[in-house]
Amino acid sequence: MSADRPFEAGLRRGAPAGPPPTDSEPALLEQIQAEIATTGPLTFARFMAIALYDPLHGYYRTAAERPGRSGDFLTAPDTHPIFGAAIARQVDEVWRRLGRPAGFVLREYGSGSGTLAATILAGLRSDGSELASSLSYEPIEINEARRRELFERLGPVAREPDRRAPATFQGVVLANEFLDALPVHRLVQLDGRLQELFVAWDAGLSGLVERPGDPSSADLAGRLGRDEVRLAEGQVIEVCLAVEPWLAEVAADLEGGLVLVIDYGHQAPALYDPARTGGTLRAYAGHRAHADPFIAIGRQDLTAHVDLTALEAGAQGHGFDVLGDVSQSEFLVGCGLEELLDRVRSNPATTMEAWLSLRSAVARLLDPAALGGFRAVLLGRGLDPEPPLRGLASRRPTG
Ligand SMILES: C[S@@+](CC[C@H](N)C(=O)[O-])C[C@H]1O[C@@H](n2cnc3c(N)ncnc32)[C@H](O)[C@@H]1O
Repeated sequence: MSADRPFEAGLRRGAPAGPPPTDSEPALLEQIQAEIATTGPLTFARFMAIALYDPLHGYYRTAAERPGRSGDFLTAPDTHPIFGAAIARQVDEVWRRLGRPAGFVLREYGSGSGTLAATILAGLRSDGSELASSLSYEPIEINEARRRELFERLGPVAREPDRRAPATFQGVVLANEFLDALPVHRLVQLDGRLQELFVAWDAGLSGLVERPGDPSSADLAGRLGRDEVRLAEGQVIEVCLAVEPWLAEVAADLEGGLVLVIDYGHQAPALYDPARTGGTLRAYAGHRAHADPFIAIGRQDLTAHVDLTALEAGAQGHGFDVLGDVSQSEFLVGCGLEELLDRVRSNPATTMEAWLSLRSAVARLLDPAALGGFRAVLLGRGLDPEPPLRGLASRRPTG
């Protein structure tokens, strides 16, 4: 991949605020070079883990703003509070369907500074839901600066997850744009064989390059075999093995309720379609997307689309029911987005400016070429699947 590859438009694009960074964090580059010198080329998953999660310099560890208008990309919760207000309705329905249990928990993975939680709570309050006063919120966030902001912002409703066993709860587990940042392996079909792309140091080029070799784990070919994925010669794909341990953690804690995953994602046949020759790995910085992971290491986000077939099969393996998988726009409409819009429109206190900003945010949240094309996957445990949860009620027939 070349360092001068032109910057492309991206799904999470906001207004570019200046040229994106290209220089890598020197300490990370040194660490990667040293590790390659000691152990040989790294899997891409290891490279991505260093770039994103190194405790001192990883992209998700430092205090700089990541999502947000002055950060690198815009997520749905940053776009407008109406996103959280719609999700609040799904949370409230799950609480009711479980018989309005006391001690109901909303656990959010990758909570950032709590924008989604704050807007869900505001949505519950403005709907007059009794859950608003009894809900406990558990953020799971790797970034210390974001965690501090979150606890300050949300006050006593937010609490640390209880890590003592058994610490099971009834509630909703939310992961919005969380799974796409988990480290992925990169694979390529070469001369009719599945090979893994390792990250190596090229002394001549004085830079990182990808080198094919035998796969680092039999689970990679195992996954593709199970889902009957056939790759075309030269086709590059990403495979994430980290979703399964995440599901195991969630399954151990969630006694009853819903797991709601919202992310870029496709079922395996579409994700690994030979037409998608280069895979789905993207780097985001300064509201621009491109495909070169070897620039701006530690200063740009790295993501790959989620394999929904693997997510759903893994969830079933951990005892969840796959209740459904819809586009974000279907999910939001099912949750009552139009009614929420009407409420704002008919409120005499709504200014023209607020109304116009809401309308453009909703267009973005519903646009299949922007955030509306994300998938919402609903996994239930101990939840009656009928009638369908409201987030699934606007599902359009496929095929
Ligand atoms: C793309 S942002 C999404 C933030 C928020 N969910 C939203 O939609 O606006 C990903 C968030 O997940 C956090 N994160 C990434 N990997 C994580 C991990 N393994 N454990 C906990 N938090 C993580 C990041 O620090 C960041 O705040």
